[in-house]
Amino acid sequence: MRTADLPSFAPLAGTARADAAVIGSGIVGLSAAWELARAGLRVVVLEADRLAGGVTGHTTGKLTALHTAVYDTLRTEHGEDTARRYADSQSAALRHVFDVAAELGIDCELEERPAYTYCRDPDAVEALHAEAKAARAAGLGASFVSATGLPFPVAGAVRVEDQAQFHPLKYLSGLLEDIVARGGSIHEGTRVTGLDEGDPCRLTTASGATVTARHVVVATHHPVFDHALLAARLTQHRDLVIAGPLPAPLDPQGMYITEEGGKRSVRTAPLDDGGRLLIVTGEAFAPGEGEDTEAGYARLEAWAAQRFPGVTITDRWAAQDNSVTDTLPLIGRMPGGGGHVYVATGFAGWGMTGGVLAGTVIASLIGGEEQPWAGIYDPARLGSTLRSAPQLLKAQWDTGKRFVKDRLDTLGDGTNGTVRSLRPGEGTVIRSGGRPCAVHRDDRGGLHAVSAVCTHLGCLVAFNNAERTWECPCHGSRFGIDGEILQGPALDPLERLDTEEL
Ligand code: FES
Repeated sequence: MRTADLPSFAPLAGTARADAAVIGSGIVGLSAAWELARAGLRVVVLEADRLAGGVTGHTTGKLTALHTAVYDTLRTEHGEDTARRYADSQSAALRHVFDVAAELGIDCELEERPAYTYCRDPDAVEALHAEAKAARAAGLGASFVSATGLPFPVAGAVRVEDQAQFHPLKYLSGLLEDIVARGGSIHEGTRVTGLDEGDPCRLTTASGATVTARHVVVATHHPVFDHALLAARLTQHRDLVIAGPLPAPLDPQGMYITEEGGKRSVRTAPLDDGGRLLIVTGEAFAPGEGEDTEAGYARLEAWAAQRFPGVTITDRWAAQDNSVTDTLPLIGRMPGGGGHVYVATGFAGWGMTGGVLAGTVIASLIGGEEQPWAGIYDPARLGSTLRSAPQLLKAQWDTGKRFVKDRLDTLGDGTNGTVRSLRPGEGTVIRSGGRPCAVHRDDRGGLHAVSAVCTHLGCLVAFNNAERTWECPCHGSRFGIDGEILQGPALDPLERLDTEEL
């Protein structure tokens, strides 16, 4: 986000008309907007905050069809045809980025690299053999290897050739310029708070502006206006990320991932001085579970320092992903509506190819065509949803448990002693005046208090001590210490409370 030069756009005021309104400006929203503008539609993009400032601004930017070990799962749970269509579609999205970057002359640090899923545990080798076989059967150039470019031995790895990494915001900057050149409108600081689905659809914003549009694309990561209850099929996880300069000779020349040890993902990116930036991801956790994220960053930094001596960690951040209970992302028409609202979500951490793919799938549907693989992603699919019923029920049980348990559990009773014992940088949820309050003490000793009841569906938030945010365990909404929305599906901030009354 620091190294991309994204333009600024004014919030929407008054009324606007468009053929298609896109809510959200991450890779899904801007890819869809660009495809639609290129097809000749008048497009308006409505971004609640800053362009691509959500999950897309925090991704590590891998463009690959090798999604850890998804192919053996797809083959087993959905059949070989679905696995092949998944591989075809993700590979097509990867190639599409190369084509679009060439067509628009976008310099987005697009580099071809092999992708690896590796293990160090000998007991996991058999599963990677199966994954290599399933990925090859699905059409990828996959093989099982025992050696990689990593500076430590592995027990085995799946290697897929001709994958890529890029700078996602530089890529989107090129799309933005072309959307505007084709007459599209972009508005930042424009939170959509209402959607009347009809023909046309009517959107209202927090400031009272309105948009009428024949088609609406909900590209908000976790979908807002979720009348179809897609949230019930989604689970969330959050990954910590660290980065810092690495001497170029230590570049492992590839993109790597393992689920072992709380997950580790590695890639590098070019630096202006000819060196490389090492980017390491890991310590996956469920948001809102009260995880000690500071300790997670410390573990990640120790891991990087031990494996890549010579790296100096200069940056850290985190990113959040949604996964669908039946493994396949949800891309297409929002079920149960009038057929003019489209949605894309549930990329399970693989939203770069997934987001580009979503742009092409949705634009094709709006244009009256259907891509050969669109069916496997259809949000209205029933068969695979039923097959994933146990996972779905578990996700709902976990959510319900949090919803109920949060209310029944004995919170701190909100005495001044509880609040007084909060140290700078800490946060806790207490009961005060009969209501749950989320209280944080900042570095200067000041208290910040907001309602701890998530404005989405009423679960209780928990504190993230490294990011200093309030996170909801039920569907992953995130809020700042003063209650402002950082990430949906919540549409309203947490209510601010008077700290004098605690
Ligand atoms: Fe759904 Fe909080 S209750 S995100």
